[in-house]
Amino acid sequence: MVPEHIRKELSDHCAHYDSRRVGLIWVLQQLQEYYGGWLNDDAVREAADIVGVTEADAEGVATFYNWFFREPVGENVIVVCDSISCHLCGCDKITAHLEKRLGIKMGETTADKKYTLLPVVCLGNCDKSPCLMIGDELYDNVTPESLDKTLDEISSKPKAAAK
Ligand code: FES
Repeated sequence: MVPEHIRKELSDHCAHYDSRRVGLIWVLQQLQEYYGGWLNDDAVREAADIVGVTEADAEGVATFYNWFFREPVGENVIVVCDSISCHLCGCDKITAHLEKRLGIKMGETTADKKYTLLPVVCLGNCDKSPCLMIGDELYDNVTPESLDKTLDEISSKPKAAAK
């Protein structure tokens, strides 16, 4: 459970809305960050309790959105768009390149917990396909070469401090 002062902050945030449930996404985001990047069952129950919705409501939101993770993920989550424009512009080649370079399949995390690779639906950037995101950063017109450069840069950074 989060400390009482954080719980109070999250609860107070929900009180700003006409309906407390409006704050559910934000609360889940805060708890995901607090718990190291993913939401276990207890965290989802905690969110429901803080907001005042049912566990099923919180679970429904936590499993609907791509950016809530219900299993541990790596330090860098790479989501590759596999919708129609990106598909037509070669996202399969990008995915294959990533899988080979990282030594994992789509849906998996590297053994060193540095990367998780996931598919995602349209990122809304279709005119610059193929696209992917690494964390909060959007990358467009991705090629295997541009991807290698990006991953080289990320891999050379020191690991983020654990919470
Ligand atoms: S289809 Fe990939 S960004 Fe829209």
